[in-house]
Amino acid sequence: MRNTLLSLLALAALAAPLSAQGSELKGKFFFKKTCKTCHVAGKPGKEVTPLTKTQAQWKAYFAADKHNKGKEKLGTGTDLKPEQMKDVMTFLIQHASDSPQPMTCGG
Ligand code: HEC
Repeated sequence: MRNTLLSLLALAALAAPLSAQGSELKGKFFFKKTCKTCHVAGKPGKEVTPLTKTQAQWKAYFAADKHNKGKEKLGTGTDLKPEQMKDVMTFLIQHASDSPQPMTCGG
């Protein structure tokens, strides 16, 4: 069982670089459509924009999958499929505070 899990993890790690790049355009769409429902000033999630984090901090945030781990705590998930989350991650990283094209709110 443990070995099966390990080989699955190894496979996932091997497969990851092939599909690591999501779509920035779709990511922007999903960020506005989903994340922004909670992440504007005055809402429970507080304001979150690509500038909220550096590229490294966004990578760490998505690697830790903080939001979905906090599901019970927040009483909600993000409703996005893994590939859609990848698009959001691509968008946020490309416009992070230390990126070549920082962006405040996703347009
Ligand atoms: C249903 C509401 C909701 C949705 C949808 C949502 N969030 Fe959140 N998010 C929250 C709440 C609530 C917190 C906790 C805020 C706090 O207490 O500071 C949070 C926290 C965060 C944080 C800060 C956590 C940290 O450790 O830095 C980030 C970043 C974040 N969300 C990003 C996102 C992204 C990206 C999406 C879309 C993929 C998203 N959120 C969708 C409600 C939501």
